[in-house]
Order: sequence, then C-alpha cells, then structure tokens
Amino acid sequence: MEEQKKQRIYSAIQPSGMLTLGNYLGALRNWVAMQDEYECIYTVADLHAITVRQTPADFRRQILETYALLLAVGVDTSRSILFIQSHVAEHSQLAWLLNCYTQFGELSRMTQFKEKSISHADNVNAGLFTYPALMAADILLYQADRVPVGHDQKQHLELTRDVAIRFNNLYGDVFTVPEPFIPKTGARVKSLQDPTQKMSKSDANPNAWVAILDKPDDIMRKFKRAVTDSESCVRYAEGKDGINNLMEIYAAVTGKTYQTIEGEFAGKGYGNFKLAVGEAVVETLRPIQATFADLMKNKDYLQSVWRENAQKAEPIARRTLAKAMKKIGYIF
Ligand code: TRP
Repeated sequence: MEEQKKQRIYSAIQPSGMLTLGNYLGALRNWVAMQDEYECIYTVADLHAITVRQTPADFRRQILETYALLLAVGVDTSRSILFIQSHVAEHSQLAWLLNCYTQFGELSRMTQFKEKSISHADNVNAGLFTYPALMAADILLYQADRVPVGHDQKQHLELTRDVAIRFNNLYGDVFTVPEPFIPKTGARVKSLQDPTQKMSKSDANPNAWVAILDKPDDIMRKFKRAVTDSESCVRYAEGKDGINNLMEIYAAVTGKTYQTIEGEFAGKGYGNFKLAVGEAVVETLRPIQATFADLMKNKDYLQSVWRENAQKAEPIARRTLAKAMKKIGYIF
C-alpha cells in the first residue's frame, strides 16, 4: 500500500516567563500527541518576544528554559523539528516581504495589537504592530497544512491565510494556505483565583496560576486556596466556575470523566477534592520536572540539539523564501 504523506503541523510558543499548567494541558500536551500522526515543526518564538522589552539575562535564560521544557514535556526531536526562531534567518527575511503584502488597515484591526497598545502604552513599537506578518512568515515558510492555536491567536491565523491567498493570487501557488487545527482534547484551564478568566502567567496574583516547574508544596498551596463556591458539592454545572475548572483539570490529568469524578467525591466536600486535584497535578508534572532538571545540567547537549534542529529547519525555510523571492522578481 502506498504510504500517505503526513500532513505538516506548525506551531510556536513565546519564551516569555514560566509556562503554566494551562499551557501544558491546553497546548503542549497536544503538541506531543500530534507527533504520532503528523509531521511536526515547533518553534521557540524568540523574535516575537522582543515586541515587549526584555532584560537580556532573563531573556537568555527564558529561551534556554523554554527549549528544555519543550523537550521535557515530550517533544521528540527524532520525529519532529524543534528549533529557536532567531536561528533561522529566513523568518525575518520573509516577514519583511510579507509586511509589504499586509495592509495597515488589517494590522490595525488586530485585537491583540489594540490590547497591547494599552497594556504597553510606553512602547507601542512597529514590531508590535507588524507581529502578525512575522507569525505569517513562521507558518508559511514551512508550508504548514495545519496550525494549532489558542483562541487568542485565531485572528492572526486568519490574517496569515488572507496574506497567503493574496500572494498566491498574484504569483501562483507559492504558499500552502494553513487551516486552523482544533484538537480533539485540550483543557481550557482557568485562573484558580478568578475562574472566569484564562490561567495566565501575567496574572499579578501568583496563586492564580500554576507553573509547570512549580514545587509540589507551592502547587498544593495554590490548589488549596483555589476559589470555589458555597454549595459544597462536587458537580459540573453552570455557575460553578471554580469547581468546573478544578474538575476540568482533574479530568485532564487523570483521564477520568466528570461522572466518575462526581461519584468519587460525593459527600466529601471541597477540601478533599482540592487536595486530590493538587496531588494529581503534582504527579503529572513530577516526571517533566525531573527531565527538565536533567536537561538543564547539560547545556552542551541542549546546544547541540537546538543547533542540529535549526539545521533541519533552515533548508525548508530557504526553499520557500527563494520561491517567493523569485516570484517577486529578485535575481540570484
Ligand atoms: N503568537 C503566538 C503566541 O503568542 C506564538 C507564535 C509565533 C505562533 N509564531 C507562531 C503560533 C506561528 C502559531 C504559529 O502564542
């Protein structure tokens, strides 16, 4: 039987601070799972990260730690490519070209730009504005068929599609037009302090979020303090955002259904349930933390891995960039 060519997945994550349990259960676990079915290319998006000011020493450490953490959660470089965006110069190059095929009006409508212009009012730089063109370059360089993105990045993916279609209409088939990828599973983890909001590492209240690398004691403390309601009955229902969130997390880490969870904690009260959720999260993160610690002891090894992976990504990117440039009229 002829083997069918695997579809290609592309995704990226910024190296901005600690990744959270929300990032893990919502996105990274899917990155790992998708490797079984797809050809996956993943990136630490360090070029995107400087649209807000970074402190050099912290930034350097965050890039390194994010790379190591992605390996630790299970991105497998014998099957997938995992590289650091700034190591493949074609990203910046194609981003420039695409800037010239993206309209001011389109970029002005991006909600993330509008939000960040307010939250970073002292530094509304041009990079913040043209961020989606760089993101389009990331995706289009690899001719990705599908891009798993969270809700907050959907608009950027739509713009990527519009730019790809526009370019193809002018010059013929240069770019694969990527589809969004909505994974079958993937928890939407909310803040432990305000369960109507998404869990976010930029939350000022550290009890609101759990980092993948949090110590067991801290994880337990955060779950014990999680906001719930006054009903004292573990059941999934409208208006019980705190309990729903804890149930979603518990279901995601144990594989249990809501029904099973409701049975398990019938008549037991919230204290018990919170401990169980905390413990299950600690056990889920324990092996990841151990692998991360091992990797961080060996920077030479890490460096050899990211260099090798950049070398795998670069020829793919180079081919697409050359194709686009030729079409525009550049000479070689
Ligand atoms: N902008 C994305 C985020 O902040 C990260 C990202 C950069 C990305 N390039 C990408 C995601 C390409 C998907 C595809 O989450």
